[in-house]
Amino acid sequence: MQTITRRDFMASTAVAGLAAAAEPLVAASHRESPERAPGVKVQSSVRPVIISSSNGQIYKNGGAKTCVETAFEMMMTGSDVLDALIAGVNIVELDPLDTSVGYGGLPNADGVVQLDASVMHGPKKRAGAVGALEGVRTPSNVAKAVMEMTDHHLIVGKDAQTFARNMGFTIEADINSPTSRKAWQEWKRRSDPLHYLDPNRREAALREVMMSMVADGFINENHIYGTINCNGVSAKGEICGVTTTSGLAWKIPGRLGDSPILGAGLYVDGEVGAAGSTGRGEANLFSQCSMLIVEEMRRGKSPKDAGLEACRRIQRNTIEKRLLNDRSTPNFNVNFYVVNAKGDHAGVALYANANSTYAVCDEKGARLERIEALLPGVA
Ligand code: GLY
Repeated sequence: MQTITRRDFMASTAVAGLAAAAEPLVAASHRESPERAPGVKVQSSVRPVIISSSNGQIYKNGGAKTCVETAFEMMMTGSDVLDALIAGVNIVELDPLDTSVGYGGLPNADGVVQLDASVMHGPKKRAGAVGALEGVRTPSNVAKAVMEMTDHHLIVGKDAQTFARNMGFTIEADINSPTSRKAWQEWKRRSDPLHYLDPNRREAALREVMMSMVADGFINENHIYGTINCNGVSAKGEICGVTTTSGLAWKIPGRLGDSPILGAGLYVDGEVGAAGSTGRGEANLFSQCSMLIVEEMRRGKSPKDAGLEACRRIQRNTIEKRLLNDRSTPNFNVNFYVVNAKGDHAGVALYANANSTYAVCDEKGARLERIEALLPGVA
């Protein structure tokens, strides 16, 4: 272990500058540096990194930096890893252009935005989550309040909002953006007569409606189950994670997906690593994949192999005809973002194409890297 000063990382706010600023850090972890003042402790075997779903390197909410850039810079200048991750995902939660999380997330079937989020703090071995929370733009912050201010791990529905109000969060009557409201109106126009049909027919009918709305430009295909998961490992080897989402677009009110459920949408073990997900939450809830991935890494698997094991589990557990395509493989996707305690990372999914990426920020700067797929083709 050695010590790195905060000054070493303050040189620049740009990505390239971040990379330049971080370079001495990596080198410094291998040499004596008597002039350095006490600061961030660096474990020489750890390569500090932030990873997230690709929206963590796409949206900036009008600011200068993305989620992963912000989180990496904060982490490298001494912030608590979870605080850094939450500051990062707040950018996406607040950006109305990302209709998958926070403000302007695609609403439920009643037109109400209901948000889910979870956080886990590896070193503190603490966690918190909220489900079906209405009226707060940044549910990740409320999840953190559950972690810090209560003896509980998960608070849902109206009571999650009451909790948030009591903790001092601003409650808004409606956190639809003009874009999400317009998309809901169009969904209602196209689909309402189908909404509560026999589940087999309903699944196919709703899928058809969704795809027609994607084709007509009302919604982004990636935002139907859209979410952001963001995980980080600091130079001290501290691991944290956060997952935040507006859940499945047009969901039945009260539906919770995987995001707020520890072990499903997020799992962090401070000694082993972190995993989180985006995609069809029902599949991940059934198979509890983030926990599975971390346990596979504990048994020695790499982040990629551990993630692929979870994809196999989902494939094995998907046997209902309505959930299978004409190749008899799942007709949906689930993605996992995985990092181990050394900072090795991977993005894996059931399916991937050339555009399937995840976001990374480390000493080389921020970028999108390819997601590895278990299965060929698309869902
Ligand atoms: N993975 C997000 C959801 O299904 O709600």
